[in-house]
Amino acid sequence: MLNSYSGWAAAATGFMLANDLLIVTGALVGSSGAILSYIMCRAMNRHFLAVILGGFGESVGSSSKSVSDQQVIAISHDESAQLLRDADSVVIVPGYGMAVAHAQQPVSELTKVLRSKNIDVRFAIHPVAGRMPGHMNVLLAEAKVPYDIVLEMDEINDDLPDTDVVLVIGANDIVNPSAQEDPDGPIAGMPVLEVWKSNATIVLKRSMATGYAGVDNPLFYRDKTKMLFGDAKDSMDKVLSALK
Ligand code: TAP
Repeated sequence: MLNSYSGWAAAATGFMLANDLLIVTGALVGSSGAILSYIMCRAMNRHFLAVILGGFGESVGSSSKSVSDQQVIAISHDESAQLLRDADSVVIVPGYGMAVAHAQQPVSELTKVLRSKNIDVRFAIHPVAGRMPGHMNVLLAEAKVPYDIVLEMDEINDDLPDTDVVLVIGANDIVNPSAQEDPDGPIAGMPVLEVWKSNATIVLKRSMATGYAGVDNPLFYRDKTKMLFGDAKDSMDKVLSALK
């Protein structure tokens, strides 16, 4: 939205200075920013006006208070490698933390190793994963992950109940079940990847900290979820060497 505003401000300046180039470039920046904001609002199931006037994380939903008292199950690198080795199908969900940790290269390496063991590996990309549109796709392409195994949320969500292991790498809001289960929560109605429906979920993150939306994630406290704490790159490297 702020990008869009800067474009409209430039166009207005163009009118004041009678500068056609400034009017045209300002209008282009303004309209492309507005279109992008509209697409992102739809992906997050939020109203355009709510984004302009409000913000995430200002009010915390009812679920966050109750879940934070519960226990999480931690898992080691060796146990994670064993779970992956025993799986027939693996889905990897990358998020902002993968970008922060620069973990895309070991993730690509892990994909190669698992596929060489005849394990079906695919990636599930949420439309607002990371901090900019296409963030995860760019990182995975840089790390030479084959395009045909990188799927959009709508293409893969229905396959998650039949998936043996889901590896959530530095993602949080995009896999938060409270979007569906807590109608009063700040992310209510946002489409999410339903990773909790798989047979096992391993979440790589450093702590129990919240993501961008500032809401607790009940996924972390589910019986089928295991937490692999630590920097995502470091954890990926250790799981990789345990796998090899
Ligand atoms: P987030 O919900 O922001 O979660 C990222 C998680 O990564 C955090 O919980 C953090 O937990 C973990 N993390 C950070 N550094 C890490 C590291 N070095 N190693 C391992 N984990 C690390 O990310 P998401 O699930 O990708 O969701 C994106 C969010 O950003 C959405 O709420 C979306 O609306 C918002 N957003 C998206 C965009 C676009 S266009 N994509 C633009 C603006 C905002 P720890 O601190 O515990 O490690």
